[in-house]
Amino acid sequence: MPDDMDPPKINFRPTCGFVGSFPASCEHVTSAAAPCRSRLKRLAACGIRPSRTDRGIRSRSEIRAAAASSGRAAGELSLALGPLAGGTWSWGNKVVWGYNQGQDDEIQRAFETLVKGGVFFWDTGDSYGTGTLNAQAEKLLGKYRLALPVQWQPQIQLGTKLASYPWRWTPASLQKAAGASVGRMYPERDRTSLDYAMMHWSPANYLPLQEDYLASAFASLTSGPNRLADKIGVSNLGPKRLTRMAGRLQDSAGVPISVLQVQLSLLCLEPLESGLLSTAAELGIPVLGYSPLALGFLSGAFSGADARSLPPGPRGFVFRRLNSDPRVKELLSLLHDVAAQYEGKTKADIALAWVRAKGATPLVGVRSEQQATKLVNSLSLRLTSSEEAALDAAAKLCKQRMVRNPFQTL
Ligand SMILES: NC(=O)c1ccc[n+]([C@@H]2O[C@H](COP(=O)([O-])OP(=O)(O)OC[C@H]3O[C@@H](n4cnc5c(N)ncnc54)[C@H](OP(=O)(O)O)[C@@H]3O)[C@@H](O)[C@H]2O)c1
Repeated sequence: MPDDMDPPKINFRPTCGFVGSFPASCEHVTSAAAPCRSRLKRLAACGIRPSRTDRGIRSRSEIRAAAASSGRAAGELSLALGPLAGGTWSWGNKVVWGYNQGQDDEIQRAFETLVKGGVFFWDTGDSYGTGTLNAQAEKLLGKYRLALPVQWQPQIQLGTKLASYPWRWTPASLQKAAGASVGRMYPERDRTSLDYAMMHWSPANYLPLQEDYLASAFASLTSGPNRLADKIGVSNLGPKRLTRMAGRLQDSAGVPISVLQVQLSLLCLEPLESGLLSTAAELGIPVLGYSPLALGFLSGAFSGADARSLPPGPRGFVFRRLNSDPRVKELLSLLHDVAAQYEGKTKADIALAWVRAKGATPLVGVRSEQQATKLVNSLSLRLTSSEEAALDAAAKLCKQRMVRNPFQTL
């Protein structure tokens, strides 16, 4: 890519006042009341379950007030991360995505097309790529970022999800993991901290105690002389755990949650039905909706007369099940009809615009330059309220839905 090109300009007007990172003054919300350990011990000795306040868990309104006092107004952050974010799960994953290293050049072209078009937030994970391809997605993202024209690089925001492996409990274990990610994502050491370190999932469903330890360990990444992350994010939390985690992080370390990642698509309505999106908006936390195309199914490419053959492995299994539901077929046909209202737009474009209509930035997986070009051309697409309502109604009728992430909490 030529080095003398101007940095890409984003052609998107968010509903909130700013795009990308928060103002520096908003980074840390002062702790109001850290839990008093001796009081907790005394209560436990008397067999009394500590109250929310005793446990340092604040109500939504208290967290909201703390966020507002820091200049971050709740409910004003919709699409603060831009109209689209890029996902890298397929960059190294053989089982679900059939990755091989022969795809790398095409993936790089897709990455450059999206960055040039104004897609600045990139998501990865230290568990993306295993065995000989260990953390391949982080490595490729680091390599492709470095190959961008130098003046483009500061605009890119890279976030990695650190897996909640059972051996990660302490600040030291998480710092080691974050340090390894920094090394892979900034191989020339031009940065020593991640833009975002995100908890890939909460262990609350099977090892609840680890969640609190991990919260403290994540908070530790943002402080000290060897700071390893500028911002903290979470993933796969439901409204209850999100509220709890937001209280924990703010009270124990004055660290706000700067992003929430959750599965959201016309075939995964849980964040709407559980109240998660409204909770995140109340707490002032921007949302990334992952798998917004239901692993590519909502592009319509795998259904109907001209269908591509089903991919091998888990995706083929899921798509076969979705194809068995006539209501899902009706949803695809509605996507087609809505797309026909907009010149040159596709079902995938409409499915992504629906996620934006819910106030979340779609986090889409890309590995083809052609698809990246289409995505860039639909960044400013907005649905009318009647289109959104019709899609809502069709989606609710579907009996078959996307597989729920087993780590998703309530
Ligand atoms: N936090 C978590 O636990 C979690 C879980 C899952 C995913 N994620 C993140 O979210 C990202 C996106 O989710 P995802 O990759 O699972 O699913 P997705 O974004 O719903 O689907 C990605 C697939 O959709 C197809 N596609 C993309 N753009 C298209 C276009 N313009 N037209 C037609 N088809 C298009 C491609 O399939 P083909 O390549 O087959 O054409 C692509 O590989 C991941 O990469 C990852 O970063 C996070």
